[in-house]
Amino acid sequence: MITARTVDDLRRERATWLAVGERVALVPTMGNLHEGHLELVREARQHADRVVVSIFVNPLQFGAGEDFAAYPKTEEADSEKLAAEGVDLIFLPEAGEIYSKPQSEQTRVEVPGISEILCGVSRPGHFIGVATIVCKLLNMVQPDIAIFGEKDFQQLIVIRRMVDDLSMPVEIRGHVTVRESDGLALSSRNGYLTAEERVCAPALQRTLQDTAAALRSGERDYQRLEEEAMARLEAMGFKRDYFQIRRREDLSLPLVDERALVIVAAAYLGKARLIDNLQLLLE
Ligand code: PAJ
Repeated sequence: MITARTVDDLRRERATWLAVGERVALVPTMGNLHEGHLELVREARQHADRVVVSIFVNPLQFGAGEDFAAYPKTEEADSEKLAAEGVDLIFLPEAGEIYSKPQSEQTRVEVPGISEILCGVSRPGHFIGVATIVCKLLNMVQPDIAIFGEKDFQQLIVIRRMVDDLSMPVEIRGHVTVRESDGLALSSRNGYLTAEERVCAPALQRTLQDTAAALRSGERDYQRLEEEAMARLEAMGFKRDYFQIRRREDLSLPLVDERALVIVAAAYLGKARLIDNLQLLLE
C-alpha cells in the first residue's frame, strides 16, 4: 500500500494505473476509521481495480465552535486497517497541500438550496466545505467511481447534484448505513458519548423506526409525527436539532400521497451531534 502525502505523488501513481487502463475507486474520509468506512472500501473494491482512500479532516466544512481541533486523528491505526483491506493507496495530505491560500480566498463550490436546509441550517457553510473538498479530491484522484455512505444522506445528495451540475465524469455510489448491533449508526463522533449516553443513543434509530411504522400504517400528519418524535427524544435527554419526513429523492417537503420518503434526524446527546435516517417506500 502506497501512502501519498502530496498531489504530485498521488498523480504519479494514478498515471501508471491509467496507462494500463485500470479502473479506480475513491473513498473520501476524515479518518478515525470504523467498520462503516471499511464497508465503503469493500464496496469500492467490487467496482474497481484500484482503491484509493483519502484521509483529510477538512477545515472548510467545520463551523466556528465545532469539533475541528478535537476531531480524532488515528493515522497509524487507520493505515493498518486499510492495508488489511488491500487498499492500493492512501492519500494523506497536510492542510497546506489542499488549501494553499487563506480560506477567504479559496474558490468554493456551492450547491444551492439543498445545502441550506436540515444540517445546513444548524451548520451554515458546512456543505460548501463538503462540496469544495469533494470536488477537489475528485479532481486530484480522477476516480471512475466514488463511494459515500447513506448515513450522511444530505451529503450524498449534495455530492450527486454537484457532480451532475458540473458534468464531472465520475459515478457516485451510495452505501447503506453500517450499525452497531443495537442499531446505533457507526460514527467517529460516537466516541464523544459517555457510557450513559451510549446506552441512550440507539433511541434515535428506534424513534425513526417507530415513525416509519406509523407512516406504513397510514398515518399522514407529518408534522404531528415529527413533533411527537422530537418530544420523545427530548424526554430521553437528547437536545433538539431536527426530525423531518422528506421526499427521498431531493429532501424537499413531501406531498401527502408521497411514496418514496426518507426520515432524517439530527440531535445532540451530550457533546455529540448524532445524525441518522431511514428510507421507506410506502405501498
Ligand atoms: P467521514 O465522516 O469520515 O465519512 C466518510 C464516509 O464514510 C462518508 O461517505 C460517510 O457517509 C461514510 N460513513 C460514515 N459512517 C458510516 C456508517 N455508519 N455507515 C456507512 N457509511 C458511513 O463524510 C465525511 O467524512 C466528509 O464529509 C467527507 C465526505 C470525507 C468530506 O470531507
